[in-house]
Amino acid sequence: MTAQLASRQPFARGGNRLCFIDPDDASRCIKVRRPDFTLADCRRKKGFPKNLKPLSSFDDSLEEFGVMQSFERHYPDSIFQHISRCYGFVDTDMGRGLSSELIRDSDGRISITLKQYVWERGYSDDCRAAVEQLCEHWLSHCVPSRDILVHNVVVQREIGEADERIRRLVVIDGLGSANLIPLRWQPRAVQRAKTQRKIANFHQRIETLIQTRSRDEFPGTHGLLFHDGLDATTPTSKDSPQS
Ligand SMILES: Nc1ncnc2c1ncn2[C@@H]1O[C@H](COP(=O)(O)OP(=O)(O)O)[C@@H](O)[C@H]1O
Ligand SMILES: [Mg+2]
Repeated sequence: MTAQLASRQPFARGGNRLCFIDPDDASRCIKVRRPDFTLADCRRKKGFPKNLKPLSSFDDSLEEFGVMQSFERHYPDSIFQHISRCYGFVDTDMGRGLSSELIRDSDGRISITLKQYVWERGYSDDCRAAVEQLCEHWLSHCVPSRDILVHNVVVQREIGEADERIRRLVVIDGLGSANLIPLRWQPRAVQRAKTQRKIANFHQRIETLIQTRSRDEFPGTHGLLFHDGLDATTPTSKDSPQS
């Protein structure tokens, strides 16, 4: 069955993909290639010699699916406490889409990114503790990842009557190492050292965001949601905000 996405409004857009709520399952999202930035555009942008590589090597979703399968096979299931699960490919009217666990807050709203959270509320103690917990998790599992970007981490919240607290941070993109040799084949000490570097880099990125915020500079629209996923009506793509 082909999922009809083109007539719907995506809830978010990354550098490469548009994210839609799965029309058949509100607990999942479907990520498709951005029609305004195709794989061919992506390859062209890389320039020589990277543009000699096959188109498929620029497909993030294909790579992400491979990484997620390797997590399922070779890592304990607890690795998914801080990583969104991946359910494989589905056909859509916008090409092949990757189906993933959609991270929502306890009130049903789609969770915002760490970037948006820190931008709106600052680096609260609650958030600091959640970041620490994510970093401990990364180190204890030696999760192979690219640099952990603040717009690739979402903040899942428990919303109460009077207050709210962070349940967990979930990394939704940028997984798998760029290395030819899988991280898990390398000695544990090397894995830990590499993971430590990713964690230090993550802290640095949060620090940069806090500084940008203190100067009141606009951090860019990357990682801002288009809608919260609770609308009763189905918005059409005509209502999408401009890039
Ligand atoms: N599983 C998810 N749960 C909640 N929000 C998500 C999820 N996946 C993506 N998003 C939102 O969509 C944005 C873009 O998704 P992403 O997978 O990072 O696309 P890209 O590969 O283009 O960078 C993210 O910054 C985040 O706000
Ligand atoms: Mg991303």
